[in-house]
Amino acid sequence: MRKKMTVVGAGNVGASLAQRLAEMELGDVVLVDIPQTEGMPAGKALDLMESSPIYGYDSKIVGTTSYEPSKNSDVVVITAGVPRKPGMSRDDLLNINAGIVQNVTQEIVKYSPNSILIIVSNPLDAMCQVALKTSKFPKNRVIGMAGALDSARMRFFIAEALNVSAENVHAMVLGGHGDTMVPMPRFSTVAGIPVSEFIPKEKLDAIIQRTRDGGAEIVKLLKTGSAYYAPSASAAEMVEAILKDKHKIIPCAAYLQGEYGIEGVFVGVPVKLGSGGIEEIISLELNHEEKAALQKSASAVKDLASALK
Ligand code: NAI
Ligand code: 2OP
Repeated sequence: MRKKMTVVGAGNVGASLAQRLAEMELGDVVLVDIPQTEGMPAGKALDLMESSPIYGYDSKIVGTTSYEPSKNSDVVVITAGVPRKPGMSRDDLLNINAGIVQNVTQEIVKYSPNSILIIVSNPLDAMCQVALKTSKFPKNRVIGMAGALDSARMRFFIAEALNVSAENVHAMVLGGHGDTMVPMPRFSTVAGIPVSEFIPKEKLDAIIQRTRDGGAEIVKLLKTGSAYYAPSASAAEMVEAILKDKHKIIPCAAYLQGEYGIEGVFVGVPVKLGSGGIEEIISLELNHEEKAALQKSASAVKDLASALK
């Protein structure tokens, strides 16, 4: 039997994600948006289906403004919300998107009580908190997408600087999905060799800063919204790891209960993703500086989450 995925929010991230999931033939996809969007999700779904003969996929994509077709989804990705505009921080979106994520999660729980939730809506770590609290799902089934994206950005910047295949580069970005995120050069490698062997400190520091500003750099260029190609690719990587039970280690926002000395908050850490969602939180031995940066990021997430109305 085919796996079923629901993507809530048929905007830039949601529609690109539906396209990627179908092209990867991970199963059937339901694309849900609000009633005010009328035929938009159905139109995007039909357009995607019409590309299936060319790409050769048999995944079915349904676009809808009702949750009924999403029933019994295995994985649900929530991209519903309002994106950043120039000059807006991710945190400006807090209470608008909290209401949206709460409503969406209630519908998902009704129709797909056994699903695994992947949250994309910003501010990411706080929205994960809303989804966990609203769904009452076990914490391994509520996962935030951010580290995959921030790490992919860092990987690209390293590959570009060295003119090597992006496939050769691994990077690790932990912490909250905001200005305090924690790129980890010590856990970043090129063909398995520490990146510090290739890139001098000053240049690496510039890459780290560009990674932190990665989302804002795209917003500034696009002017009317935020990034969606790399975000949808990152979410698709997570869905694939879950549906194929790959046990793949990806940095994701996970609810921490003492890991890394952090309690009761979603923060980006390396996790093993498989059919159960988060199968394991990988505990890295951090040095003093890394630990302090992660704690600072967790405090920023905590402060923001406490401002949720
Ligand atoms: P978009 O504006 O293109 O699409 C958002 C869609 O959500 C719209 O179609 C809108 O109608 C829909 N929506 C709004 N309220 C809804 C509801 N109650 N139920 C269902 N659908 C609803 O925005 P885009 O670019 O797709 O971004 C979506 C969200 O993802 C934003 O919050 C953005 O900040 C976030 N984001 C997060 C990233 C991450 O790394 N975690 C990366 C990129 C975007
Ligand atoms: C990004 O990092 C907006 O959070 C989104 O591109």
